[in-house]
Amino acid sequence: MTAVEQSLPAKDQPKTIYLKDYQVPGYLIKTTDLRFEIYDGETIVSAMLHLYRNPTAQTPATQLILQGADLELISIALDGKQLSTSDYEFGEESLTIFDTPAEFKLLTITRIKPEANTSLEGLYRSRTMYCTQCEAEGFRKITYYLDRPDVMSEFTTTVVADKKYPVLLSNGNLIDQGDAENNPQNNRHYATWHDPFKKPAYLFALVAGDLAHIEDSFTTCSGRDVTLKIFVEPKDLDKCDHAMESLKNSMRWDEEVYGREYDLNIFMIVAVDDFNMGAMENKGLNIFNTSCVLAKPETTTDAGFQRVEGVVAHEYFHNWSGNRVTCRDWFQLSLKEGFTVYRDSEFSADMGSRTVKRVEDVTLLRTLQFAEDAGPMAHPIRPESYIEISNFYTMTVYEKGAEIIRMLATLLGKDDFRKGTDLYFERHDGQAVTTEDFVAALADASGRDLTQFKNWYAQAGTPRLQVTDSYDEDAQEYSLTIKQSCPPTPECQQKLPFHIPVALGLLGSAGDLPLYLKDAEPDFETGDNTHTVLELTAAEQTFVFQRVQEKPVPSLLRGFSAPVKLQYNYSRDDLIVLMSRDSDGFNRWEASQQLGLQAIYHAMSAYARGESLAGLQLDADLLSAYSSVLQDDSLDQAMVAYMLSLPSEAYLSELADVVDVEAIHHSRMAVRKALARALRDHFVRIYNAYDHQQVYAATADAIASRSLKNVALGYLMLLGEDDLIRACEQQYRESNNMTDVMAALSQLVNADAPLAQQLAETSLADFYQRWQHESLVVNQWLSVQATCLLPNTLDKVKGLQNHAAYDGKNPNKIRALIAGFCGGNAINFHANAGAGYQFLADQIILLNTQNPQIASRLLTPLTKWKKYSPERQALMKKELERIIAEPNLSKDVFEVVSKSLV
Ligand code: TRP
Ligand code: ZN
Repeated sequence: MTAVEQSLPAKDQPKTIYLKDYQVPGYLIKTTDLRFEIYDGETIVSAMLHLYRNPTAQTPATQLILQGADLELISIALDGKQLSTSDYEFGEESLTIFDTPAEFKLLTITRIKPEANTSLEGLYRSRTMYCTQCEAEGFRKITYYLDRPDVMSEFTTTVVADKKYPVLLSNGNLIDQGDAENNPQNNRHYATWHDPFKKPAYLFALVAGDLAHIEDSFTTCSGRDVTLKIFVEPKDLDKCDHAMESLKNSMRWDEEVYGREYDLNIFMIVAVDDFNMGAMENKGLNIFNTSCVLAKPETTTDAGFQRVEGVVAHEYFHNWSGNRVTCRDWFQLSLKEGFTVYRDSEFSADMGSRTVKRVEDVTLLRTLQFAEDAGPMAHPIRPESYIEISNFYTMTVYEKGAEIIRMLATLLGKDDFRKGTDLYFERHDGQAVTTEDFVAALADASGRDLTQFKNWYAQAGTPRLQVTDSYDEDAQEYSLTIKQSCPPTPECQQKLPFHIPVALGLLGSAGDLPLYLKDAEPDFETGDNTHTVLELTAAEQTFVFQRVQEKPVPSLLRGFSAPVKLQYNYSRDDLIVLMSRDSDGFNRWEASQQLGLQAIYHAMSAYARGESLAGLQLDADLLSAYSSVLQDDSLDQAMVAYMLSLPSEAYLSELADVVDVEAIHHSRMAVRKALARALRDHFVRIYNAYDHQQVYAATADAIASRSLKNVALGYLMLLGEDDLIRACEQQYRESNNMTDVMAALSQLVNADAPLAQQLAETSLADFYQRWQHESLVVNQWLSVQATCLLPNTLDKVKGLQNHAAYDGKNPNKIRALIAGFCGGNAINFHANAGAGYQFLADQIILLNTQNPQIASRLLTPLTKWKKYSPERQALMKKELERIIAEPNLSKDVFEVVSKSLV
């Protein structure tokens, strides 16, 4: 028996869904007419479905199986005739109707309880409003339906509610509204919405509440006026402007870069405080987590502003990549998510700094996605099977998925990639399609053979590239040999080679060398002969460059042209050359990270030998390289900030075979302190050059200067000097924006000096006093405490769970406090003989019934148990076993825990 089978009696085993079992639906739905009668405590849903047999089904269907969950069926009629209980049968999450004709109308009336719905899927209540979340399979919690993305229907929705909910919204255009009928008290009203675009149920949305809104408009490229509205609770009306600007920029960008025009006369966004994810692209009615839409300088950090811009763009871009062309089944999720992440990432690059955005994306990918791809939940961007699809909204499907699209764009070049996406949208508009269809459109439009490239869709794991080189001075030839391999992952042991674009240049003493690749045409498209993209397709390949007059330093994988782990034996001097003068900004940063890694590994060896790291010295060449970065005016200040930031503990852990939590933490800290001591004067200069009175702007330049200044502050705070600590506290008190306030607060909280701790305590109290009525700010207050690296944080976290500021039902609060501690505070999470593990398991058990999606996401740190010491492995495993022994495990939690225990 496998661990999965052992964990539950066979009859209770949740069933695995396989891609290979896909079958077209037996019935399709022409029109869907919905009526929601919202009352306190219950909502009555009437659904009139016009069904017809799918002409492409192999055998004509003779029964109809609808999905439904947590519904109370009140009545059911087929073509106007009430069905009797022998005409249908309930399954666990289904309703089967026997002997169904070729075409018919089915009317069901069901009762649901939004107020009691804590899963935040389906129709639920968040604070003062009703709202929905239907992706992936939440619509079945609203009414009986063919809840699958390849069933696309035209929706008309009437919402009837008390007038204390003045705003009644659904997808599409408002076609009717007025007072409710049969309502002598005249306290109820209704609104009817019609969406002319056929869509799958997962894109359905409904909102009812007492909401305020801001309004703007956008004129599309063909001259149509679109009304734009952002709905929020009245208290948040002053935090909508940034989202509105981002929306207009996104609409313009999608026209200019992809030729995509918006298609309805109205586009709405609603902000909701209780939301499992970031936001949802429902047709014409996006629903957002408040954390991804609200922003103003006093309450929101720069990272928050950028997140709003990125998520608004992401959801807007889904209108084409996701809604107009949607997924055939949920295995195709990356079709819309990978592509849309790629699109929003390019948008953000165009709005701000391209190199900075690339560094941020790659950092995320290499810490979280690489770790996922090396763990028990590893899966290809198009998985082959799942138990619960919600578990596959992952870093892999989203972020690695975006990298796959980026590689296609690199391989095809700008013009052919655009031809490919044009063909894709034109060919598949109004359809539910597969990743195969996407790649076929790109192949057809460009004439390129992408057969081997498709291995990226089917194989999990992070490929490794081993690069060796040699220089023949007499022949003036330089050759690079690249070997690729990919470690085994749960779905596949032996991998076929990938088709990998390797962007590169060769650095000579006076700059980039011209490239003359043997047996290849020069790249006339860009006119730049110092940069090229090699295409690696075999397990091992050698590329020879001619007329190379000196031994170069190779600048490999420029811009991180593929999601792989690159191994090349760079000397420290090579890295210093790359960091100081590579023409590729990304690789300058990458060299800085490699140098940082070398310094940390050096310290880790000393730590392993039991040496004190207290007075650790870094060598002079390294320090002078860092100080020239600090004085390089050609560099974007944000890049300086990132180049001076050492690789994170999370990244160091990902790189390690066995994670030594303490060694990583203390060694990295020692290198940071050594840098602080050596570069103190530079950091002071940067800190003092910053004008703390300047008016806040969320522009790339302003964000960059804040981030560099706050990196400097971070180093200075390691010195433990009283006047620097006071300067930090002054920044906390006097800053006019949340970025600087939070940066200072977090430094105070983390500084291991009595004065800092005393000021941290008063500042935390002051902060809460001041911001207790701003939920999103309170979340930052929770998370700064949860991520405090000093001892005793777990006790503080437990204490905070009982604080008025906390709400154990709100996902944002759970993420700030619980996920903040367990996922963002390794040194404390892994301390005290498993106390952190036990704490996390307790939270998961509690959340399992309340909100399975959140419970399952929280599990991530425990799933990595095999990467730790034997003692820690045992303690972590024990908690996973305790969870799996729980009765009534949700599919979400069951799948992750059982796969982690294999
Ligand atoms: N489609 C959404 C996005 O990426 C993701 C999403 C929002 C989601 N809410 C969800 C996925 C709830 C699963 C469950 O834009
Ligand atoms: Zn998305």
